Amino acid sequence: MKKIVFFGAGNIAQSIILGLISIGYDKRNILFIDRNKKNQSYLKKIGIKKYSSKHINNIDLFFLAVKPKDALMAFQEICDSHKNPKVVSLVAGIKSKQYFSISKNIQLIRAMPTTSSKFGKGITALFNISSSSPSFNKVKKIFNKLGMAIELNKEQEMDAFTGLIGSGPAYFFYLLKVYEKRLMKICNNDAKMVADAMSNMLEGVALSVASNDNLDNLIAKVASKKGTTEAGLKSFKENKLLSTFDKGITTAIKRSKEISNES
Ligand SMILES: NC(=O)c1ccc[n+]([C@@H]2O[C@H](COP(=O)([O-])OP(=O)(O)OC[C@H]3O[C@@H](n4cnc5c(N)ncnc54)[C@H](OP(=O)(O)O)[C@@H]3O)[C@@H](O)[C@H]2O)c1
Repeated sequence: MKKIVFFGAGNIAQSIILGLISIGYDKRNILFIDRNKKNQSYLKKIGIKKYSSKHINNIDLFFLAVKPKDALMAFQEICDSHKNPKVVSLVAGIKSKQYFSISKNIQLIRAMPTTSSKFGKGITALFNISSSSPSFNKVKKIFNKLGMAIELNKEQEMDAFTGLIGSGPAYFFYLLKVYEKRLMKICNNDAKMVADAMSNMLEGVALSVASNDNLDNLIAKVASKKGTTEAGLKSFKENKLLSTFDKGITTAIKRSKEISNES
């Protein structure tokens, strides 16, 4: 079986690799390229081998997973050493036309995954730029197995998805800092108890959301008239929490658009 290569094997690549291993993907068919010693030793520890020139004719897909500033250089390296490579770019902000300015002889897919792929709970946006249908379907199948894949209609939608979903886990981690601080006091600084409490709360929220009920109904089931929840929600509304949150997302989307101009 031909192998897949992660060019850049940091945060997102490792999440995907761990997700693939947990769904039974054969480790021997995953390779990586990364200059970072810490990432190299971690991947070695989990049994993932480094790409070398002996693999050159046995590669199916490259997952480009370096930071935007490094993306075009890494892409150039792939194109210099492989004829008509199949590249899945996980890089935020870098548009297809920037890759095509380096080489047109590529099958290119853009993908925007989340680190929750590690737990089979990823959400990955996909946009097929110039890939054959079988290769695109294969990539879609991989990301569906790691959670869910959403196929976009236009490449520009990648920026909206990046700011909304790609960055999404960090927004929730950020909001949880308020819970963590307060729970630490209640739970006598027992960090494990606090982590368990936060994770139970989020899992409960996730199951309610999965029930497909309307969000206002879900709120109404928690908030009783003149009760504590209603008081909390009233304060959130007065302080425009939703529009502040929405503005943050708009800023992230704008940033995704800017990144391409900086590389
Ligand atoms: N993290 C996320 O949640 C997430 C989600 C969706 C998409 N993405 C996208 O995924 C990409 C990677 O993000 P990340 O957070 O995984 O970054 P990261 O942890 O910094 O991993 C990138 C790795 O690639 C290495 N690298 C860069 N250029 C290289 C080269 N020419 N040769 C060999 N190794 C090279 C880096 O080494 P150095 O450390 O030495 O630079 C680093 O170890 C970004 O473009 C981001 O937009 C990330």
